[in-house]
Amino acid sequence: MQSLVFTLSPGLELCKVIERMAPEGGVFTLCDSNTASLVYPLMTQDCPYLNNNTLIVTPAGDENKTLAHLSHIWEELQRLGATRHSLLINMGGGMVTDMGGFAAATFKRGMRCVNVPTTLLGAVDASIGGKTGINFGELKNEIGVFAEAESVIISPIYFNTLRKEEFLSGYAEMLKHGLLQSSESIHSLLAKDATRLDNQEMLELLRNNISVKQKIVEQDPTERGLRKALNLGHTFGHAFESWHLKSGSPVPHGYAVAWGLVCALILSHMHLKFDATLLRDVAKYVERNYGAPQLRCSHYNELVDLMRHDKKNVNATHIQFTLLKAPGKPETGHEAKEDDIKITLDLMRDLMHV
Ligand SMILES: NC(=O)c1ccc[n+]([C@@H]2O[C@H](COP(=O)([O-])OP(=O)(O)OC[C@H]3O[C@@H](n4cnc5c(N)ncnc54)[C@H](O)[C@@H]3O)[C@@H](O)[C@H]2O)c1
Ligand SMILES: [Zn+2]
Repeated sequence: MQSLVFTLSPGLELCKVIERMAPEGGVFTLCDSNTASLVYPLMTQDCPYLNNNTLIVTPAGDENKTLAHLSHIWEELQRLGATRHSLLINMGGGMVTDMGGFAAATFKRGMRCVNVPTTLLGAVDASIGGKTGINFGELKNEIGVFAEAESVIISPIYFNTLRKEEFLSGYAEMLKHGLLQSSESIHSLLAKDATRLDNQEMLELLRNNISVKQKIVEQDPTERGLRKALNLGHTFGHAFESWHLKSGSPVPHGYAVAWGLVCALILSHMHLKFDATLLRDVAKYVERNYGAPQLRCSHYNELVDLMRHDKKNVNATHIQFTLLKAPGKPETGHEAKEDDIKITLDLMRDLMHV
């Protein structure tokens, strides 16, 4: 099982983890071009095992999560003399932990790795649960394996250099976890001004929030059933994300997820009687912090088509959703008719004043 370390002194904790793991083949670090300058120098102060000679830097941005850059990481590991007994530290957002996790899982048939997520989205989602991989042939996360990092060092101290949109994007996944956990959990997240939390408050929030994903992943590591609950808001969300991308105005993943959560709760209200007051509260919070997608009725068919082609849909004629009966009570594999999806979009526009 993946060990999670929550700390305000990540360098010291990383040092202890490395000492415990005692890698015989040396310690290597993967950063992207941003975390190499913003995070790595802070960590080296407290952790002498990190060494500039074994730092591998890959260009920042999801568009660089490619075979060419993965190949460069393998080449660097080889050139620097890494062995199967070495340790790779993936220090960055989800792009770095996805690609670094895959590089570690495949180099010399697998070396151990530790994740140090440096974005909120990375901390609450991407660095946990063992999904690793790269984009391929224009498809996201097309090639990869399930391979958990042995340890994940989670700390909010890096988040103050994140752009506000990056931070809020991660907070949307926290709202998703809150909804999957309990009424108390989602209400407490909605009561906070996400961008004004201090480090100690954020650390406690992370500890509780990440346990939601961790518990689900423990029960269903390879997404055969229960793990699909984590797709809450993502069928609509991926459609909004692709639609924005195609129209030349991309939005951060978490913004699309936040809008997707509102739609999933509307559908949950229609099909499973999810509480209308909580639905309104979530919609209000989302509108205030993330705005709303500027949809018109004439866009609905395109969105439905995008949902049909979402790779999470086993059968393209029936679009599947994860819905909620109530906070903490997800139902996966719920099918909805095209008409219900369009009514949902109508109601979302009403609720969010589009
Ligand atoms: N494996 C999973 O389960 C899973 C889950 C969700 C998302 N993902 C993947 O995660 C990626 C998205 O993650 P992300 O949002 O962290 O993206 P990212 O890693 O691309 O980081 C976003 C931007 O923030 C920069 N950055 C990182 N840390 C920073 C810091 N402390 N201060 C300032 N800037 C910093 C990065 O250089 C980058 O420019 C996608 O590739 C997605 O497919 C994977
Ligand atoms: Zn997501």
